[in-house]
Amino acid sequence: MKKVYYPTIINQEEIAENIFRMELELDEIAKVALPGQFINLYCKEGENLLPRPISICEVNKEKGIVTLVYAVVGKGTNSFSLLKKGENVKVLGPLGNGFQIDKSIEKHILIGGGIGVPPLIELAKHLTGEIYAFLGFAESPILVKELENYGAKVFVATDKGREGFKGNVIDLIKNENISGDMIYSCGPKPMLKAVSIWAEEMGIKAQVSMEERMACGIGVCVGCTCKHKKNEEEDWENKKVCTDGPVFWSEEVVWNE
Ligand SMILES: Cc1cc2nc3c(=O)[nH]c(=O)nc-3n(C[C@H](O)[C@H](O)[C@H](O)COP(=O)(O)OP(=O)(O)OC[C@H]3O[C@@H](n4cnc5c(N)ncnc54)[C@H](O)[C@@H]3O)c2cc1C
Ligand code: FES
Repeated sequence: MKKVYYPTIINQEEIAENIFRMELELDEIAKVALPGQFINLYCKEGENLLPRPISICEVNKEKGIVTLVYAVVGKGTNSFSLLKKGENVKVLGPLGNGFQIDKSIEKHILIGGGIGVPPLIELAKHLTGEIYAFLGFAESPILVKELENYGAKVFVATDKGREGFKGNVIDLIKNENISGDMIYSCGPKPMLKAVSIWAEEMGIKAQVSMEERMACGIGVCVGCTCKHKKNEEEDWENKKVCTDGPVFWSEEVVWNE
């Protein structure tokens, strides 16, 4: 059940330029969080009022630790990066609906773009069978080792070929000629759209974790909607990314905008 907590930061480090890993002593959320869910992280009192949604990257149920990995892009995430070990933060969670996991599936394809990679770590821990992870970055890869530690065979693409394959993640998948039974993806919308098209071509079901800007994160403000197909393709309805998602079936999303 989602609740407000004030956990202690037990670790905060910069793992790549402007990318931070924050560990929170948060037993209550660690016990119940599912892969693909997120939390709302609040800035210090007096700073930005609205919380910022951040995916749960990993949980350690035994130790009661929740790990977040976030990029500094603006005021809110910058203020998180200034918090120190030992300080407390305000958190609401766990929020949203995560990835659907089917234990009978044998071959999983994880596709992550940039700061969309974090939720794939906890997901990999929950999957049985073979896991292939295709990760695309502008410049520097993150969380590759973590995915490998959970048994994934990881392939990396960078825009200019600084590391791994030169190009985007879809070209990388096509280049490797690997297929699977289920796709799970998180990253920028153009990447998710390309994943959806590739999944349809290949006849593979795909789950996509959508990112929209959020205000409340709990279904009240209607600020985070995305279009979903209704019965016929021409007909659509709005769904809230925060409470109906963030994970949706790619075939249900209206991508053409
Ligand atoms: C469900 C969900 C899970 C997320 N998980 C993570 C995560 O694990 N790690 C992480 O680093 N970020 C994650 N984000 C994005 C994160 O919430 C935003 O980067 C953050 O809210 C930006 O706040 P800010 O005050 O620093 O930046 P702002 O000043 O609000 O914005 C700075 C820049 O970031 C862009 N931006 C802000 N929010 C978003 C967004 N939701 N999607 C795309 N661009 C955005 C703005 O357009 C602007 O260009 C997630 C977002 C959602 C909706
Ligand atoms: S963020 Fe308010 S309804 Fe989704």
